[in-house]
Amino acid sequence: MRIDAETLAGKLPGNFTLGVATAAFQIEGAVSADGRGPSGWDAFTHMPGRIVDGSDADVACDHYYRMDEDVQLIQGLGVDSYRFSLSWPRIQPAGKGPVNRKGLDFYDRLLDRLLERGISPMCTIYHWDTPLPLERQGGWLNRETAYRLGDFAAIAADAFGDRVHRWVTINEPATVTLNGYALGLHAPGVPQLLDCLPAAHHLLLGHGLSVQALRAATVPGEVGIANVYSPVVAATDGLANELMVQFYDIVFNAMFSDPVLLGSYPRAHPLLSPFLAYFRTVPAEDLALMHLPLDFYGLNYYFPSRIAPGPGPLTGPQARPEGVPEAFLQDGQQLPFHLAGWPGYDRTGFGWPIAPDYLAEALTQLARRYPDLPPVHITEGGASFPDVVVEDVPTGGPVVADVQRVAYLGAHLDAALDATAPGGPAAGIDLRGYYVWTLLDNFEWAAGYSQRFGLVYVDFDTQQRIPKTSYRWLQSLAADRPSRS
Ligand code: NOJ
Repeated sequence: MRIDAETLAGKLPGNFTLGVATAAFQIEGAVSADGRGPSGWDAFTHMPGRIVDGSDADVACDHYYRMDEDVQLIQGLGVDSYRFSLSWPRIQPAGKGPVNRKGLDFYDRLLDRLLERGISPMCTIYHWDTPLPLERQGGWLNRETAYRLGDFAAIAADAFGDRVHRWVTINEPATVTLNGYALGLHAPGVPQLLDCLPAAHHLLLGHGLSVQALRAATVPGEVGIANVYSPVVAATDGLANELMVQFYDIVFNAMFSDPVLLGSYPRAHPLLSPFLAYFRTVPAEDLALMHLPLDFYGLNYYFPSRIAPGPGPLTGPQARPEGVPEAFLQDGQQLPFHLAGWPGYDRTGFGWPIAPDYLAEALTQLARRYPDLPPVHITEGGASFPDVVVEDVPTGGPVVADVQRVAYLGAHLDAALDATAPGGPAAGIDLRGYYVWTLLDNFEWAAGYSQRFGLVYVDFDTQQRIPKTSYRWLQSLAADRPSRS
């Protein structure tokens, strides 16, 4: 049943943060402007066959030049907070050494605009756009990159620490590791399967070094990470499928949340542990850094995973849009399991199952696995649909009636509130906020511009922004809240 904005607003705890999220590479464009250097993603998008619609992010939403207009759109929503990311190659083009003043200037202006308009900034330090010189030296397979990220976090703390209210060190290290280094579907695009494990470790080390840098700079803002989490279930009965579920749950979820929240890597069934032997070789000091205390934990939730035996694409029928290439695996490399479809669930434009009950399950699992979990922000949630612009009959203006997205967002926020309410299965979680992915239709990584996730429609030929029905819905949700302190 659809929950209306007014009823949902009444369920929001006082001081619950409503926000919208973006990432630099997906919206900024201006890839050669004002001293920005190339990133691994710039190189990847220009390799033939890697992006489903053959596009790149050279212009994207042209946000670098339209930032004022976009901040006005955020203000118009009446939400409390905006999550954005810093473009590392814009600020430090070589990934080390000199800082590009003009790169810093852009985020100075952004932060000032946000604060003038009463919007609380949440700043992600790393959302996947590794400077190309570092990617060329092995990227996250190279331990050096973690130290470079720590240095970059110190630069960010020094430049913006006075104005950022919440810091996210790294966004979805799982996706960087698995899509980037294991499967080659994302930059840098060379599939390594289980040889990707050092990338996971170095990303988490980069997180720890960033926390250390932010604390050393005594930033007043809160510090956290954004980890994606997908509850995993078996498609068939039997031990084999059960083991595959455990394996997938480790490499997608626990391998990234355990070090941060428990200070250790997950233990696996003896039949699986040889595959994860790398983690027994890592220095204990690294784990101590990864486990530094956080002020909040960021959860990105999109969909659950259903694992079936037998080889098949790991991006699965439900995750891979029509036409996206299968993993660029080398000859003979096949995995013994794949992601199966979800009977009985509607799907997003990406084919992902729409499963708000599994957001409740994700929160429940987190509460159970991590009794000392700090307060949680859902740092991303949202869905792509094939939105179309139509002419509004009375006004003649353009309209995008994305009612499925309204239903998606309402159901997910409602499920998260119910699960974490007193007496709910995840009552142990102090849920502080929900950030909608995303403000604007944008460059959706390997899916290019083929998947629209925005509250605001973007016409990529003209850069016209058209607020969708979901934008109006979030606006009423924010406005209908009881008065806040
Ligand atoms: C998670 C990522 O953080 C974001 O960059 C991406 O666009 C969304 N998922 C949707 O796939």
